[in-house]
Amino acid sequence: MKLSFEKSRAGRSGLDRLDTAPGDEVLAELGDLLRTGELFLPQMSELETVRHYTALSRRNMGVDTDFYPLGSCTMKYNPKVNEVIAAMPGFTGLHPLAPAAAAGGWLKVYSDLERYLADITGMDAFTLHPMAGAHGELTGMMIVKAFCGGTGESRTKVLVPDSAHGTNPASAALCGFEVVNVPSAEDGMIHPHTLAEYVGSDTAALMLTNPNTLGIFEQHIRRVADMVHEAGGLLYYDGANLNAIAGRVKPGDMGFDVVHLNLHKTFATPHGGGGPGSGPVGVKGRLAEFLPVPRVEEKDGALTLSEDFPRSIGRLSGFYGNALVALKACAYILNLGPEGLAEMSALAVLNARYLLGLLTSGGWTLPYGAPCMHEFVLSGEDLPEGVHTMDVAKRLIDAGYHPPTVYFPLIVREAIMIEPTETESPEKLEEFAGVMNRILGEARDDPDVLKTAPSTTPVSRLDEALAARELNLACKRNGRT
Ligand SMILES: Cc1ncc(COP(=O)(O)O)c(C=O)c1O
Repeated sequence: MKLSFEKSRAGRSGLDRLDTAPGDEVLAELGDLLRTGELFLPQMSELETVRHYTALSRRNMGVDTDFYPLGSCTMKYNPKVNEVIAAMPGFTGLHPLAPAAAAGGWLKVYSDLERYLADITGMDAFTLHPMAGAHGELTGMMIVKAFCGGTGESRTKVLVPDSAHGTNPASAALCGFEVVNVPSAEDGMIHPHTLAEYVGSDTAALMLTNPNTLGIFEQHIRRVADMVHEAGGLLYYDGANLNAIAGRVKPGDMGFDVVHLNLHKTFATPHGGGGPGSGPVGVKGRLAEFLPVPRVEEKDGALTLSEDFPRSIGRLSGFYGNALVALKACAYILNLGPEGLAEMSALAVLNARYLLGLLTSGGWTLPYGAPCMHEFVLSGEDLPEGVHTMDVAKRLIDAGYHPPTVYFPLIVREAIMIEPTETESPEKLEEFAGVMNRILGEARDDPDVLKTAPSTTPVSRLDEALAARELNLACKRNGRT
């Protein structure tokens, strides 16, 4: 497909040009910042522009086009009503620097959402500042650091299971902690007797995802929490998998002290392509003083933003979080209510278990056999010689599906991590299982069809590492980049 710059023709336009020139005052203020050279933009008619972007969008894959079983990402359908609410001028029209007195509606959304999230997770206070799950982890680890700093003890280690998402150890290391890897048992869980070898007076925190990234609920969580607390450490909850338990089990009741959530997974914000995201962090009461500022507070009967928290870890960003994502999450939670949330997570687990049954009876290998929650991890290790998980992922593209997450978690060889989410119908799951099982047959009978996949896309097998390492999105025109 040609670039818009290649379709461009001088003088062609979809707009009537504005004739109004800027006044002298504006020109004087701009000074030598004023552009003198040609404006390097494609020139196209409205129709050409519409066709160009429609054609581009058809090359994309999204939840609105078909099943998107990307494990650990909760690619559920996002109800359009949330988008309509987030586009309301009363919300979008507010200037980011408007004083709190003029932002009462937004502050009410923030304060309500903080309360709902605290209730869902069993925490006492929340911040909506962090812009992603990893940003939430960093915030949480900064809070752990600030807490440890005040105890007079030397706590230098953060324990992280070997099934954890890579952002967990990275966030702990960024805060100056030594990261200690805790091995999972053969059933995919962290066992108290293993943990006993690692936890001690130098433990600042244990970071856990529950259900973990194998899609398995950590059944020893109460004992694990007691052990960490008895040693004086804190328990951190990576809430990326909250979709499996929301409305049913609260991380706070399991013993967690700090949590982050991924609003762009569990709470229905379109997710992918790097954003937009939101990773709110919740804490138990004794840690609330460390939350980032500003915080929403009620003063003299009105909501306001306050910086008056001397022990806070400080500011994380210029404003207060990713406002529109927070608004969509608030709308979603209000729409579902407590019963709806509980039904959501029950259906997410039911769908995953149904799909898992269809795939294992079709011959796929499940290395960790405990009952799955909202997702499960197959292994491509038993594929015929020379065929790999990556080949299966690429072949799925030919069938019109986005591939699952592959090669994560690292403790599963040739991992294929599938998360169907609650928004898919049984028929869609059966259709997908049929395709997966057919691909398993192809792997045995006609492996070349997998090795050369995808064959239905504009470009076939790409060097993905090269594309990530040497990203080049620039376009050349008339010798200029
Ligand atoms: C288990 C887990 N933790 C943390 C993260 C990080 O979240 P984010 O991508 O929003 O930074 C992810 C992301 O996929 C995840 O799956």
